[in-house]
Amino acid sequence: MRPHGLATSVVDAIGNTPLVQLKNILPHVGLPPTTRLFAKLDNLNPGGSKKDRVAKQIVLDGYESGELVAGQPIVELTSGNTGTGLAIVSAALNHEFIAVMSAGNSIERARQMRALGAEVVLVPQAPGNVDGQVSGKDLELVREVTESLTQERNCFRADQFRLKGSWRAHYNSTGPEIWEATGGDIGTFVDFVGSGGTLIGCGKYFKEVKKGFKCYAVEPLGNEVLKRGSGGKLGVGKGGHRIQGGGYEMTFDELELFKDVDVGELVDGFISISDKEAVDAARLLAKKEGIFGGFSAGANLSAAAKVIMEGKVEGEEGVAFMVCDNGLKYLSTDLYL
Ligand SMILES: Cc1ncc(COP(=O)(O)O)c(C=O)c1O
Repeated sequence: MRPHGLATSVVDAIGNTPLVQLKNILPHVGLPPTTRLFAKLDNLNPGGSKKDRVAKQIVLDGYESGELVAGQPIVELTSGNTGTGLAIVSAALNHEFIAVMSAGNSIERARQMRALGAEVVLVPQAPGNVDGQVSGKDLELVREVTESLTQERNCFRADQFRLKGSWRAHYNSTGPEIWEATGGDIGTFVDFVGSGGTLIGCGKYFKEVKKGFKCYAVEPLGNEVLKRGSGGKLGVGKGGHRIQGGGYEMTFDELELFKDVDVGELVDGFISISDKEAVDAARLLAKKEGIFGGFSAGANLSAAAKVIMEGKVEGEEGVAFMVCDNGLKYLSTDLYL
């Protein structure tokens, strides 16, 4: 649980989020009452997402390596959550922060970052792409803008897709917190993949502390690029989906963070989740447990239920998933009508 003492800055309030054992929701997702299902409430971080941890780790790593110096501007491309985390950490540690994001992401994210003192650069979506559905092509456009800004303004690029802080944050904090909260009585972790930082960091930690621990990568149904790619055949995504924060149609080879791990050892399987399954599960989580998450929390919950129902979990071994961000970030969408 979070420390109640005096923090020297809001940076100290990042992490140590509660892990909640779900009860009410079990019959609604077809699970027996004995199921041990745990939700990690990273929606309760200061910026409302797990990416606060990544922002903090990347900035601290930057100081340590000397690549980031006092007062230097920080830039990053973001679907909003890493940007919010970076805006918070930058404000607290006296850096200017420039966030580059696709115009396809929800507007709350841009407003929150601006409120936190960030400069937000919105990049228009690729022609024909749909608002609220950020594709690989959209992300490519955002990357180009970010790269030129980094050069022009001599910024530190807090690259969540490349820097090890992205997974080290979860290896150092999220994984150990989940492990300690359950007293090590847990055997499965499912996670919707964006940069892969959470799956790698938590998965690597869990597999080190427990032999036979199982990790599943969650992907949008019809867009199973990781699953098809790791079968030797490069997958071709069908394009849009609504689960913001991941499902970027990138293979393990294209997702740089996975270069730090043996994917075959880390990932035990893949779970596909439709937009509807993610939305229904997010709504249930809110209504039945009072836990207000985003689309990806719904995708993770739905994937956890599938893994259990498909008999992939031994006995009553615990299953954990992340509530990656806060439902408040989606009030302009139809996630919660
Ligand atoms: C809401 C949300 N869910 C899931 C993810 C994916 O997490 P990761 O990048 O650790 O794979 C992100 C990443 O930005 C996110 O913002």
